[in-house]
Amino acid sequence: MCGIVGYLGDKNTKKILLDGLKELEYRGYDSAGIAVLQDGDFQSYKAVGKLLNLEEKTKDFITEKFAVGIGHTRWATHGKPTELNAHPHLGESSYVVHNGIIENYAELKKELQDDGVTFLSQTDTEVIVHQFEKNLQLTSSAFEAFEKTISELEGAYAILLVTKGESETIFFAKHGSPMLVGIDTQNDKYFASSDTPLIGHCSDVNYFDDGDYGYVTKEHIVVFDKEKQQKEPQFTKLATNKLSAQKDGYRFFMEKEIYEQSDVIADTLLGRVNDTEILFDELEDEFFNGIEEIKLCACGTSYHAALSASYLFERHSKIKTSVEIASEFRYREPIMHQDTLFVVISQSGETADTLETLKMAKNAGLKTLVICNVDNSSMVRLADASILTRAGVEKGVASTKAFATQVSIFWMLSLYLAQLRETLSREMIQEQITLLRAVPAAVKVDDTTHERIKRLSKRYLHGHGFFFIGRDIFFPLALEGALKLKEISYLHAEGYPSGEMKHGPIALADPELFTIALLPQNLLYEKTKSNVEELSARDSTICAISPITFDKADDFIQTKHHTSYMLEFFEMMVVVQLLSLEISVRLGNDVDMPRNLAKSVTVE
Ligand code: G6P
Repeated sequence: MCGIVGYLGDKNTKKILLDGLKELEYRGYDSAGIAVLQDGDFQSYKAVGKLLNLEEKTKDFITEKFAVGIGHTRWATHGKPTELNAHPHLGESSYVVHNGIIENYAELKKELQDDGVTFLSQTDTEVIVHQFEKNLQLTSSAFEAFEKTISELEGAYAILLVTKGESETIFFAKHGSPMLVGIDTQNDKYFASSDTPLIGHCSDVNYFDDGDYGYVTKEHIVVFDKEKQQKEPQFTKLATNKLSAQKDGYRFFMEKEIYEQSDVIADTLLGRVNDTEILFDELEDEFFNGIEEIKLCACGTSYHAALSASYLFERHSKIKTSVEIASEFRYREPIMHQDTLFVVISQSGETADTLETLKMAKNAGLKTLVICNVDNSSMVRLADASILTRAGVEKGVASTKAFATQVSIFWMLSLYLAQLRETLSREMIQEQITLLRAVPAAVKVDDTTHERIKRLSKRYLHGHGFFFIGRDIFFPLALEGALKLKEISYLHAEGYPSGEMKHGPIALADPELFTIALLPQNLLYEKTKSNVEELSARDSTICAISPITFDKADDFIQTKHHTSYMLEFFEMMVVVQLLSLEISVRLGNDVDMPRNLAKSVTVE
């Protein structure tokens, strides 16, 4: 998602900041900016689009003596990708850059506006700099004002702030978003939100812990912990390989993205779930007025997320829901009624077939909504409303975290509709909210499970086919598991409803047919179990994924005992992702760039 850099020293500040931002390009961004304080004066530049645009704007800007500077690449979440919304954000005499989400920004903004502060952007970030300047009036030093500001922020952040009154200082804070600081041999200080901008400048770096904040000057790095106790920075050696640094030590981007799911789902939920209700600031109150039916349309993995959603919408919101594959829908002369909400789901927002169905629905006068990971993408621009999934850039072609955030959004949306339509009691909604909040923990990769999957993957490198089977919402998960395996292992795999196996596919059963069975304990366990037993009786090789030991299985991957099938869904999602990954690794395939596939398919 967004990227942060900072520098304090005598070298070419502009170049160090821009080079640093270039190293963060792989994270994806839609605008960028820098602010530099030298000789007591600020210069700030921002540009929408690629860094080349920012380079062009700064080409006559010279920084050849001591300066402090901060820079940012922005991936829009609050407000469109415009120059005004790009960071750094300016107060009266200070600039800030921020990654993450300030959950209580609306309250703080309201108070500041009541005090007469004018806001230039739509971002949550801008409140930080105004709140800091308000606190400057109430405290005796810039550091105290910064400390007070941090204590007033809720949410997740990595922040750098510079202010005229302390022109040789950079203030920093980290809570829930990554940040590190390094020193070079001349004692110059470098900040970044991930390793790569510091490689080549610093050999040792300090990774901040959550709750750390403080400041750096020419001489010092002063760090406080979340208890406001000063602590010594802990320096460790910095990696020297940039590509592996981008992967944060994981073997593949896909693996990193599987491990990231816990954090990105937490981002997806931020500000949208409180103790008693689901909130979608991006939807007008009357958006669902007159809607009697929902039609979901997508391709690939997004289609599987849509299928999962259909179970949740009917179960929670009691609204008739149908799902369509976009490439089919567009040519089958569909009947569209205006009481139907047309929802497209797309990681990229650019998939040609899905985009076309959105145009068709708009032309037919339907209300449209897009669930998307990329702000300002074609679909986001076209749809009446959009909900961003906040998964950050996904580099692995085989989608993992994008799917996880799409399903999370749909779960929330089904509850949001249940609130509006009063189809679930307040108690039931609260129960669901508690479960939703447990998703980031449920998708945390368990080392023992990953090790187990690595070991047993060696038994699944051949055979004449895989069937991933499940019932209810575990059927779309089975489809997704099979798609993951196909995409990166090139082995034939199908997802099937487990109750349907006996109507044909069971004819294929023999020891070389591998069945990956999703057996959640909280949803139709006995029914699914009988279907797996039918396959086991015909000697199909079974790998069961379940919290309940299953003695008819050849292999067994034990999941945790959750109280809800949705938490089982999310944990099993991680298991099938890891299984595909490990099989692909053993086969020696290019996990991140599988043959014949493209991340964004903008042709029919
Ligand atoms: C491509 C990708 C898939 C993706 C599908 C839909 O085929 O390889 O991973 O699921 O497009 O993409 P979208 O961006 O619309 O979700």
